[in-house]
Amino acid sequence: MNRGPFIFLGVFLIVATSWTFVLFKANQEVGQLSAVLDEDLGKYVPGNTVGAAAHGKEVYQELGCISCHTQQVRVASGMDIERGWGERQSVARDYINDHKALIGNVRIGPDLSNVGARQKDRNWHLLHLYNPQINSKGSNMPAYPFLFDVREIVGEPSSHALDLPPAFSPGEGLEVIPTRKAESLASYMLSLKVDYELKEAPKSNEIMAEELAVALEGAQ
Ligand code: HEC
Repeated sequence: MNRGPFIFLGVFLIVATSWTFVLFKANQEVGQLSAVLDEDLGKYVPGNTVGAAAHGKEVYQELGCISCHTQQVRVASGMDIERGWGERQSVARDYINDHKALIGNVRIGPDLSNVGARQKDRNWHLLHLYNPQINSKGSNMPAYPFLFDVREIVGEPSSHALDLPPAFSPGEGLEVIPTRKAESLASYMLSLKVDYELKEAPKSNEIMAEELAVALEGAQ
């Protein structure tokens, strides 16, 4: 029996369904998204990370921070907004300008999509990277001391030196200076914040206000 036509049909169906779901459907859902928020006001979804923060993003990837941290506020789990990780859900358009979206899928530590809005102090980030126990006692995040140089104080202490509590000081006459990688990583952390609105992702308090209005209307 000649099975050629069946094999052809089978292969054709596999290719056609894969194409439909992987390319066509995905393109239909997100392919039309635009980075423009308001052309009149010249507002756009913020661009890909630049400058020191862009270097910090590379360091973030190099050190595997993504193995413990996500960058995606979800509403499905129902908790992220109550946890204070963001004011609204993250949606596809939030990543439209990202050369690489570091969404992640493991959450041993908190989500970092908005960490720049939560922890605004650069020194906090540097101390936390040097040793999380300094400002997050009991943290199980690893310390990254290799991102810092310990050196002898010659003359005046450097203005870049970490302001360490005595218990964490490397010793008399020594100071701890962040390397470029540590500085860039701190810049990247400070740059992570979602401070613009998207119509497809209203803020949770707006959703609540809307639900309340509907409920009140129903009660009248
Ligand atoms: C083994 C898992 C793990 C790894 C790897 C890890 N973290 Fe964390 N991280 C945590 C945990 C747990 C916390 C919560 C406790 C704390 O604040 O230290 C945390 C907290 C943080 C916070 C504070 C978040 C907030 O909401 O205040 C920042 C910023 C952060 N991590 C950045 C990083 C960066 C940058 C890297 C990579 C250099 C990294 N983490 C690697 C587990 C991890």
